[in-house]
Amino acid sequence: MSTLLKIDVSSRGADSVSRSLGSTFAKQWLQLNPNGKVIERDLTKTDLPFVELPWIIATRTEPDAQDAEQRAALAIGDSLIAELKSANEWLITTPMYNFAIPARLKAYIDHIVRADQTFSRTAESFTGLLTGKKATVIFASAGEYDPSSPLAAYDHLSPYLKMILALIGVTEVTFVQAGSTWKVDRGITDSETFLTSICGQHPMLASVGGSRFDERLPSRPSHGGEIFAQVHREFAPASSDELVDPLQRNSQAPESRWIDHQGRQHRWA
Ligand SMILES: Cc1cc2nc3c(=O)[nH]c(=O)nc-3n(C[C@H](O)[C@H](O)[C@H](O)COP(=O)(O)O)c2cc1C
Repeated sequence: MSTLLKIDVSSRGADSVSRSLGSTFAKQWLQLNPNGKVIERDLTKTDLPFVELPWIIATRTEPDAQDAEQRAALAIGDSLIAELKSANEWLITTPMYNFAIPARLKAYIDHIVRADQTFSRTAESFTGLLTGKKATVIFASAGEYDPSSPLAAYDHLSPYLKMILALIGVTEVTFVQAGSTWKVDRGITDSETFLTSICGQHPMLASVGGSRFDERLPSRPSHGGEIFAQVHREFAPASSDELVDPLQRNSQAPESRWIDHQGRQHRWA
């Protein structure tokens, strides 16, 4: 049975653009996979302590030598990793905070990136262990970080998630950026127009039956302003063996490419 794990990060509930798009994606995915299952992992409702000393020691201690505190420190990651393994497709919906991922998502990543659980390591390289899966990342941001724009270098969210997903074995990743969300928040663009513009350019976000959105953003008066320019990025799969240990001084980032919505290929600088 196909299983989609949907990981939501935003604290904005019904106002969240990334959650709204994620809902639409899941609904469309269920139409394409009628026998499939969607697992909801809402990080705003998940107990996610930062990894601290008991966790660090536990990861370096044989299971039968761990004390109760160390076992408890690993338990959250154990169950989150089992959940990741149980799904063949992942969807991460997240805001951009300070040009990167929110701390809540980083706390999640710190729990699930575990040596010998989700990746293995030699002196020369890493090998991802969660292979055979694909992922989609929908991220919402106030700004626009199209690779051709002057702000592209400020986007530390998508390169980081691309690298982390490849590290644990997932190299087939699609990124969808919902930029200029401030225009919805300020009523310059109405939410229907905004979401439709993004959905129209991504197959998994295309119209679902008669109702396009599971969770409509609260309606705000529109001032009839310009429609935001949205970006749709697809990274071509990169093999996880291309990842070089960053501790090596001469490490080279793997080349990645993205395809814009007109099918043109670009190099990711
Ligand atoms: C703490 C914080 C930091 C933010 N940092 C950025 C940023 O660096 N770049 C940006 O374009 N938008 C930034 N934003 C705006 C959010 O990315 C934007 O409101 C987005 O729509 C939030 O996602 P959501 O609608 O799914 O909740 C920030 C918002 C907050 C609350």
